[in-house]
Amino acid sequence: MLTRTRGVEGLLSLLTDAVDEALIAAAPSLKVISNCAVGVDNVDLAAATRRKIPVGNTPDVLTNATADMAFALLLAAARRLVEGVAYVRAGKWKTWNFQLLLGADLEGATLGIIGFGRIGKAVAKRAKGFGLKVLFCDPSAQPEWGAMPADLETLLRGADFVSLHVPLTSDTAHLINAEALGKMKSSAILVNTSRGPIIDHQALYEALRAGRIGAAALDVTEPEPIGVDSPLLQLDNCIVLPHLGSASTRTREQMAMLAAKNLLAGLRGEALPHCVNPEVYDRGGEQMPAASSRPGQAGA
Ligand code: GLV
Repeated sequence: MLTRTRGVEGLLSLLTDAVDEALIAAAPSLKVISNCAVGVDNVDLAAATRRKIPVGNTPDVLTNATADMAFALLLAAARRLVEGVAYVRAGKWKTWNFQLLLGADLEGATLGIIGFGRIGKAVAKRAKGFGLKVLFCDPSAQPEWGAMPADLETLLRGADFVSLHVPLTSDTAHLINAEALGKMKSSAILVNTSRGPIIDHQALYEALRAGRIGAAALDVTEPEPIGVDSPLLQLDNCIVLPHLGSASTRTREQMAMLAAKNLLAGLRGEALPHCVNPEVYDRGGEQMPAASSRPGQAGA
């Protein structure tokens, strides 16, 4: 990428591309970075902003798909779906068994949502339908869907399910470490559809193996892909998916369209429909042209 971006004016990146300071420096003509993801932790925003390069992302269109995945993982871990499938495939299903693979109920249990932005709120909306009580931890968010605000410690201690929805920053890296895991109920189920490094995986492994928490269901890992030799993959109480949160056909089409619109707007020198560093447009009061000024083109 370092050599191939040299002459380019626009970059359409995926979350697997490290758009770091070196890459940005290697592309002197770069006018826009369009990241085809809502998370932008793979982009050095400070380096892009210093060069006045707008960075686009794809919010909103993937909110429901990602919240659905968080819920799919929550249910899968609560009701032990992956273990059940393995049991059938291994030919172990000989008779109906009253005690087989007993899981956790949702109705009346407490879900703790860490990070109450668009996706966290969409998870709370789903939780209401399942009769879960919801706590959320996010100092910048207001209650919605009947969710009650809580500090992190209260949430970790009180939740039967914990779902992570914070962006990856230096403040949130390893937010769920040995200490945080130690505060959770021994039956608690941890769901992560945000970014892998929010959890200290070594600490998670030890907590799962020792039964200090009940189970984990991860759509994201550190690193990605997770090594096939990761001890987490040996545990029955850990489900790992290959980062499928937004992987529905319609959502991926909408993400691709939004990323293309951001890219084209940036190439034309227009404001991106979704820009994560709008301070690049601060030109002493001068207005940027709107991105949607041309029919059928950028802007939604
Ligand atoms: C996916 O993880 C995204 O950030 O869009």
